[in-house]
Amino acid sequence: MSQLLHPLDELYRRAESAMDPAAWAYLNGGAVDELAVRRNPDRFAEIRLLPRVGVDVSALRTSQDLLGIELPYPIMLAPAALQRLFAADGELGTVRGAKAAGATAVISMESSVATRELAGEAGPFFQHIYVQKDRELTLELVRMAEEAGARGIAVTLDNPVPGIRYRQDAGMLGLPEGVRRANLESGGVPRLTGGYLDPSMTWRDLEWLVAQTELPIIGKGILHPEDARFAVEAGLQAVYVSNHGGRNLDTVAHPIDCVRAVSEVVAGRVPVLLDGGIRRGTDVLKALALGADAVLIGRPYVWGLAAAGAAGVKSVVETIRDEFLAAMAMCGLASLADITPAVIFGEEG
Ligand SMILES: Cc1cc2nc3c(=O)[nH]c(=O)nc-3n(C[C@H](O)[C@H](O)[C@H](O)COP(=O)(O)O)c2cc1C
Repeated sequence: MSQLLHPLDELYRRAESAMDPAAWAYLNGGAVDELAVRRNPDRFAEIRLLPRVGVDVSALRTSQDLLGIELPYPIMLAPAALQRLFAADGELGTVRGAKAAGATAVISMESSVATRELAGEAGPFFQHIYVQKDRELTLELVRMAEEAGARGIAVTLDNPVPGIRYRQDAGMLGLPEGVRRANLESGGVPRLTGGYLDPSMTWRDLEWLVAQTELPIIGKGILHPEDARFAVEAGLQAVYVSNHGGRNLDTVAHPIDCVRAVSEVVAGRVPVLLDGGIRRGTDVLKALALGADAVLIGRPYVWGLAAAGAAGVKSVVETIRDEFLAAMAMCGLASLADITPAVIFGEEG
């Protein structure tokens, strides 16, 4: 008898057999002992749901406006660098799959296909950047995002120095032929990670960044509620709760354990986003119940990309979306506004 696999686990297996082992290590690995990588999804699994019955859930309302984008449901794609390591089409497959599924993608600064080439194929999208030591280069990236039509800029805050990643370093010594950081060609970036990260960056630099553009700035990598307050005070227009998928600091707190305190501090002033370990539709429901407005998927959509290109990305999003819709209905929640901590077992009081 063959073993029945969850669709994402099936794509995971297919991706692994399709991919170069060094790229696989880069994709799935993380910091030091990879405890945070493994525990991010486990934390979701440990949280139990407490459904209500006798509610009309015949028409679920899951759309919302996020920074001017109408999201049909609260699932987006997190920035992931260098996707031509994983599939020939790279980010082109991702933005096509995202568009087909109605999911907004965040394009990494380190995209292996230039954002300006992706823009025509993508639905509404956000651009990700790291603030560069060279502020002129930072501004070039902001202008590039504006010209390409990005709807906002996600700036990563949790990477002052490169993560220590033994599995990745053992496998990948340099970029293979034909894989390049297409957005950074003028920047002369010397290393695979780091080098161009700025460990001196503070909230003052973020205030500077906010003043440089009309686009909303999203602060990615916030876990501490006090930092969420600083982010709002600095003029950031969304707080993105993340531990970078466990790729930077090991044994760091899990986003799902931090989001409630963050959302209490933010108090609805700006949207709260979350990533790190989202693997199932019930994970989306739990993140929203504890205070996120929307979630982002990281590694799983890249498994989809590597296994089946744009169709694989689409199927990952739709699998998680369909599970989320079923979980909403099963919990007696007809609209996003109905999703509160009361659906979490132990929080119902
Ligand atoms: C291959 C890969 C590359 C990534 N590149 C970036 C990046 O360039 N910038 C960034 O802020 N986060 C990056 N991330 C982190 C993701 O945006 C996201 O925070 C994380 O993957 C979410 O966790 P999950 O993979 O468990 O869903 C990367 C993640 C992966 C797997």
